[in-house]
Amino acid sequence: MKVALLTGLVGLGILLVVWISRRAPSELAAIAPLPAAVTTDRVGTGGLAVLDPQQSAEDRARTLAGWSADRVRQHVPTVVGWAESGPVPLRASAIWALGLAGGSVALETLERIMADTDTEASLRADAITARARADTHSVEFAERWVSDPQPAVALAARRVLRREERPPDEKIPTTLVEWQEAVATGGDAAAGRRVFLSPQVGCAQCHVAEGRGRVAGPGMDGLGRDRATLIEAIVEPAKVVHPDFQSAVVETRSGELWQGIQARTAADGTVTLIGLDGQPWSWPASEVAKLEILPGSIMPEGLAEAMTRAEFRDLLAYLESLR
Ligand code: HEC
Repeated sequence: MKVALLTGLVGLGILLVVWISRRAPSELAAIAPLPAAVTTDRVGTGGLAVLDPQQSAEDRARTLAGWSADRVRQHVPTVVGWAESGPVPLRASAIWALGLAGGSVALETLERIMADTDTEASLRADAITARARADTHSVEFAERWVSDPQPAVALAARRVLRREERPPDEKIPTTLVEWQEAVATGGDAAAGRRVFLSPQVGCAQCHVAEGRGRVAGPGMDGLGRDRATLIEAIVEPAKVVHPDFQSAVVETRSGELWQGIQARTAADGTVTLIGLDGQPWSWPASEVAKLEILPGSIMPEGLAEAMTRAEFRDLLAYLESLR
C-alpha cells in the first residue's frame, strides 16, 4: 500500500503521504508542504573545481554530483558537453545532473544519449533513469528501450515503467532470515546506483549518496554497514530508528502543520526542524502550539518487495561500495 503511494508521487510528496497515511482525513487540509527541491549547493564556491580540467575525472564527477539544480541550470551547455563525451565517470555524473536540472535542452540531451547505440550501455541506462527522474509523469519514452539488446538499457527502461518481471521461480521472502539468505552475496554496484536513484524505488527521495538525493534520512556515504545490517534496515525499517531522523510535526498557533526531522527546542523555546531541502526552519515559542515527534520510521515498509532480487542485490552492492 505504502509502496504504491510512494511510486505514484515524487519527491516531497512522499514525506507528506507517509505521514498522511497515519492521520485522520479531516486533518489533511491544513498541511503545508515543506520546500520541494534541494536548492542549496552542498559544495560552495569550491564546486567550480569541476570546471578545472587539471582535476581527475573522478574528482570532477564527485564535485559535480554536489551541484544544486540551480547551478546546473546556469551551466547547461557545459554540462551537456560533459555528458556527451569524455571520461565515463564525469559523463555519468553530468547525465545525473541534467536529470536534476530538467528543462528541454537537458531532456533532449538525455534522449540523444540513450538513443546512441555506440555509447556505453551503462551511460545509456543512466540517461534513461535520469530522464525518468526529471519528469516522473511522462515515462512513455522508455517504451522504446524495453527490448533493447543491451540488458542494462532494457532493465532501466523496464524499471522506469515498473515492468521488470520477476523470474517465475523467484519467491518473495517473507521473513528477515529468508531475505538475508536471498540477497546475501553478489550484485553490480553501477546498476545499484540506478536502482538507488530511480524515482520508482525512491531511496534518493530521502537519502544522499555520492552527493545526490535528499536529506530526510541518514546519508549513505561512508555509512560503513555490513550487508546483513543493510538488509535489515531496508526490510524492517521500523526496527531500529535513528533518533535524529524521527519525523516531527510543528503545529503553529495559526493552525499550520509543518513536518521535518531533527527537531530541536532551544533554551528560549524556539523550535527548529530540518526540512527536506536540508535547511533549518524555526518558529519562536510564541508561534508554536504543539511539537509532536512521530513514532516509528518515515522510511516505508515494503521497499524490498518492490524490487526484484537482482535489483536488491545490485542496490546492496552499491551501498557497500560507498564505504
Ligand atoms: C520516506 C523516506 C525514506 C525512503 C524512501 C527511504 N528511506 Fe531509508 N531511512 C529513512 C529514515 C528517516 C531513516 C532513519 C530512521 C530509521 O532508521 O528508520 C532511514 C534509514 C535507512 C538506513 C539505516 C541507516 C543507518 O544509520 O544504519 C538504510 C541503510 C536505509 N535507510 C536505506 C534505504 C534504501 C536503500 C532505500 C531505498 C530502497 C531507502 N532507505 C528509502 C528514510 C527513507
